[in-house]
Amino acid sequence: MSAEVENEECEYTDLFLEMAVDPAAPWERYQALVERGVVEKGEGKVLMASRAAVEAACRNPKVFAIDEAGLFMGNVRSFKPQGIDPPLQTKYRKILDPLFSPKKMDLLEADVAARVNQFIDAFIDRGECNFTEEFAIPFPSSVFLTIMGLPYDDLDLLLRFKDDILRPGSSQGELLTDPQERLQFQLNTGQEIYAYYEALLDERQISPQDDILTHLLHAEIDGDRLTREDILDVCFHFLLAGLDTVTDNLTCFFAFLVQHPDYRLQLIENPAIIPSAVEELLRWESVVPAGMRRATEDVEVLGCPIKAGTAVSLGWAPSNFDPAQFPDPLEVRFDRQPNRHFAFGAGVHRCLGSHLARRELRVTLREWHRRIPEYSLKPGSKLEYQSLMRSVENLMLVWPTG
Ligand code: HEM
Repeated sequence: MSAEVENEECEYTDLFLEMAVDPAAPWERYQALVERGVVEKGEGKVLMASRAAVEAACRNPKVFAIDEAGLFMGNVRSFKPQGIDPPLQTKYRKILDPLFSPKKMDLLEADVAARVNQFIDAFIDRGECNFTEEFAIPFPSSVFLTIMGLPYDDLDLLLRFKDDILRPGSSQGELLTDPQERLQFQLNTGQEIYAYYEALLDERQISPQDDILTHLLHAEIDGDRLTREDILDVCFHFLLAGLDTVTDNLTCFFAFLVQHPDYRLQLIENPAIIPSAVEELLRWESVVPAGMRRATEDVEVLGCPIKAGTAVSLGWAPSNFDPAQFPDPLEVRFDRQPNRHFAFGAGVHRCLGSHLARRELRVTLREWHRRIPEYSLKPGSKLEYQSLMRSVENLMLVWPTG
């Protein structure tokens, strides 16, 4: 495969930036967008911001299709299932959903709890940690690598791949800003990712294991095995989805909790509230701001005409603050019921890993607050929020010891 620059800068960037004005406190921005419903961003670009607008688009994948959206981040073919539409996307979900079902996650619970405690063991007596680097990155990554069948020793390499795709240049200390340079960097990294997986799949072909790589080698759609390219298209996207999102949520959750001891107390006094607290924090933090689609025909949403070919961004984050769906949306309520947020997206592409993510987040809140109930921000450190995928870098926590 050759890795030449072919794409132009992602045309969705300014739709995403519309939401990323202040990553430390994006909520008022979201509300202003929700009031506008369908937000037109110049010729050929639209952001769905209200709940009704997002629902209208994501429940209609034929008209708001993903494979035309150009979801290319170093990959040379569409991601699967993320970059393809039904009916083929549905067939992929049929083989992938059972691997991430709530029942499968029940079986993982003890292992997930043991890992949380092992990471805590490493720093609890020190009375401080860099939460991002010492917990939020390695813990979910270790779970993900194990179920995929990727060696933990390769974690640094895999994190470098992921960062070079999502934040091109960051691993070399400088985020690239030139669109062509960014693209070329992503394409080069993409080639490394394909080669990495190729080698591991060759190994699994010879010695099968109880992991997702082996499962994919034996999976069939309509009676045919997946091709090597199909498998690579699944694995490439898994790397981006599995290694970033839970980390980002953990850093945002703990940044919230360290600033709000009253909410922390609710978790300590009543751990039974943790599952619904996780849902509310997923809504409140909304780390994945939006999805990308393209209109395949002329259509109207909430009175707004949208032409075929329009780049459409589905605003998961703003729609989570729509008062029509969430009474008092700017209030964090750990007992909010119902709480049908779109933090995991909605419609046919709704997150495949949501049960895994929930499990990791719940177990972390439970075990952490059992062992480290009191903590605060390290004096002199500050909260460094990142935009686009919201996250907090170098979250420094301290707690009493002995
Ligand atoms: C809290 C953590 C997570 C959040 C907030 C999250 C968010 C999302 C969102 C918003 C989408 C929909 C994208 C769209 O419609 O354009 C999505 C899809 C997806 N997510 Fe997650 N995700 C998380 C964790 C994970 C994990 C751990 C995995 C691991 C495998 C994963 C795998 C996927 C896949 C494969 C899709 C595409 C599904 C499809 O197209 O059918 N996610 N996720």
